[in-house]
Amino acid sequence: MVKPSQDYVCQSCGAVSTKWQGKCPACGAWNSLSQEGSAPSLAGPAGLKARRKAKAAAIESLSSDEPPLQRIVTGIGELDRAAGEGFAQGSAVLLSGEPGIGKSTLLLQAAAAIANQGHSALYFSGEEATGQIRMRAGRLGLSQSPLGLAAETCVERILATVEQAGAPDFIVVDSIQTLWTETIESAPGTVSQVRASMQALIALAKTRGPVLVVVGHVTKDGQIAGPKVIEHMVDTVLTFEGETNHNLRLLRATKNRFGPANEIGVFDMHGDGLREVPNPSELFLSQDTTGTPGSAIFAGIEGTRPLLVEIQALLAPSPYASPRRSVVGWDQNRLAMILAVLEARCGVKFGVQDVYLNVAGGLRVSEPAADLAVAAALLSALSGIALPRDCVYFGEAGLSGALRPVQQMSVRLKEAQKLGFRSAFIPAAGESLSNGFAGQLTRLAQLKDLAALFG
Ligand code: TYD
Ligand code: MG
Repeated sequence: MVKPSQDYVCQSCGAVSTKWQGKCPACGAWNSLSQEGSAPSLAGPAGLKARRKAKAAAIESLSSDEPPLQRIVTGIGELDRAAGEGFAQGSAVLLSGEPGIGKSTLLLQAAAAIANQGHSALYFSGEEATGQIRMRAGRLGLSQSPLGLAAETCVERILATVEQAGAPDFIVVDSIQTLWTETIESAPGTVSQVRASMQALIALAKTRGPVLVVVGHVTKDGQIAGPKVIEHMVDTVLTFEGETNHNLRLLRATKNRFGPANEIGVFDMHGDGLREVPNPSELFLSQDTTGTPGSAIFAGIEGTRPLLVEIQALLAPSPYASPRRSVVGWDQNRLAMILAVLEARCGVKFGVQDVYLNVAGGLRVSEPAADLAVAAALLSALSGIALPRDCVYFGEAGLSGALRPVQQMSVRLKEAQKLGFRSAFIPAAGESLSNGFAGQLTRLAQLKDLAALFG
């Protein structure tokens, strides 16, 4: 018997080091290393016995007569879409998001909807007492749903409960940070606890076939506190995002082994829970900004869905020697790049002005395709000339000022047309698009062609 070694494991990123250090050498977090036991290696002579005892795995072929994968559909369209047309049976799903964003609300609504269809569903909460969940269910109008509730944090007891309940179809565990297993000594929320608990739960999903949805809290900088380490273990990672002071919530599939990744679902948080937003473009465009210089409509794509959003720019004389560049909902570096390209390639001078850029409605746009819309908003703000209100913009700008084609141009135009837009500025290169758009199409080769329109 080899004595298990005691290594120091970073509770933030999971890096292992042999001695204690104040700062994790891998992720730079301070005071995050704590001592955890690790199993002896199987490689050496000590592992020989274990290797001899091990049974060989069965090798199977790719073809099979198994029935096709079943999916559990909640009936909440935006959730089913993000999960990949429903939750695949036997899959393990991680729902991550900042505290207070609405994860428990969403899962309570989903589990109740599934229970209402006659499936058996269980909701384990480690954070709230059953009374609290009942109160929330009352607020959401779900009190009559035959959903099973339990306040439990011990993995072994959760497994025993599931065993006793027969074969449930849908299990929610809220949250992974509160779980602990008797096999590990460290406190709940530590990397080893989170890892071991998750492993036990995933094994349950794989052998007995329920859909398992586990909540994971994320800290401000986007890392799931500690258990970033479980993302690779699960089949699907759904992230729930939004500004807490906005009602809008986006559910994004960042990883999906059973469906398309990057698909999004859009919700609106109300007093009676989360409501679906089936036509998000209408939501983002609802405010009438007619005649305001600095506003441009970007025809974007989120996942496979086209989405029109308003990009707003504001310039103000700067009191500082180096002017401010402030961005909400877009990439700061990308804004700096567009400003530099406009100055260097298009002869536009922003001088010592503070630049503010905002994506309306609390959405975060990550596509470079927004470059042209950002440039249009900036040029409009600088010149004081409002852009035509029935026009959309998309196109990626290079450092040379050339505009590059972007993916799914015809889908973007179709959405714009559907919402009553009659003109579009798009890159010259790429798809021909001759019959896709009934309005006026202006194809630009260079960013300076756009700047020239402002005189
Ligand atoms: P919750 O689902 O508890 O968040 P999480 O599980 O991600 O921590 O949601 C918390 C917030 O949502 C809380 O601030 C109140 C708000 N909320 C509503 O606005 N309407 C509702 O119907 C519910 C249940 C919550
Ligand atoms: Mg919660």
